[in-house]
Amino acid sequence: MGLKLKVFRPVLAAIAGMALCASASAGTAMPDEGAVGTVGGPMQGEIGGPFTLVDHNGNTVTDADFRGRFMLIYFGYTFCPDVCPTSTVMMAHALEELGEDKKKVVPIVITIDPERDRPEDMKDYVSHFHPRMVGLSGTLKQVAVAIKAYKVYATKVFEEGWGVDEYFVYHSDVTYFMGPDGKYLDHFGSGATPRVMAARMLAHMRARPPDR
Ligand code: NI
Repeated sequence: MGLKLKVFRPVLAAIAGMALCASASAGTAMPDEGAVGTVGGPMQGEIGGPFTLVDHNGNTVTDADFRGRFMLIYFGYTFCPDVCPTSTVMMAHALEELGEDKKKVVPIVITIDPERDRPEDMKDYVSHFHPRMVGLSGTLKQVAVAIKAYKVYATKVFEEGWGVDEYFVYHSDVTYFMGPDGKYLDHFGSGATPRVMAARMLAHMRARPPDR
């Protein structure tokens, strides 16, 4: 898989050394990681919703701006030394596995750490993974709305002696696949391979083509 992961913000990575980016299960609402999500299943209507955020070019965007395209969404942060880069790489590989159909899907990374991840930081981050990847940040309140809508778990973890801006974010490690109408279709846990992700996305896409 050529997982040559760049370590972003290496200063913190050096400080941590071991715990790095801890990830948490997304909670009891999630089906088994290996389960294939079904359109119209119990998840539908529970995950996702309106958001207003700022893209990596500094433009305000809303969920409605992505209508008509499938969205592959990951919540992470640029200081994350391993879990987020790994999942973002998987996301990019899964997109490529879609072949021509990849054009119907927009890969999106939404920061859970808007206090440190400014739009320019998101721009730098996404540029390492995929040319069409969109990085979204925003105010604390804007990001909190998105985090709540997608039922993402994220909490700061400080170690003794660290400064106020030095922390990890303990967070759920889930990639969401949303339909052209913005509704939940599927999700992938950290164990999902790009091939499995692509197969499941294609199944959904064939059952539900984009509006445009
Ligand atoms: Ni992470």
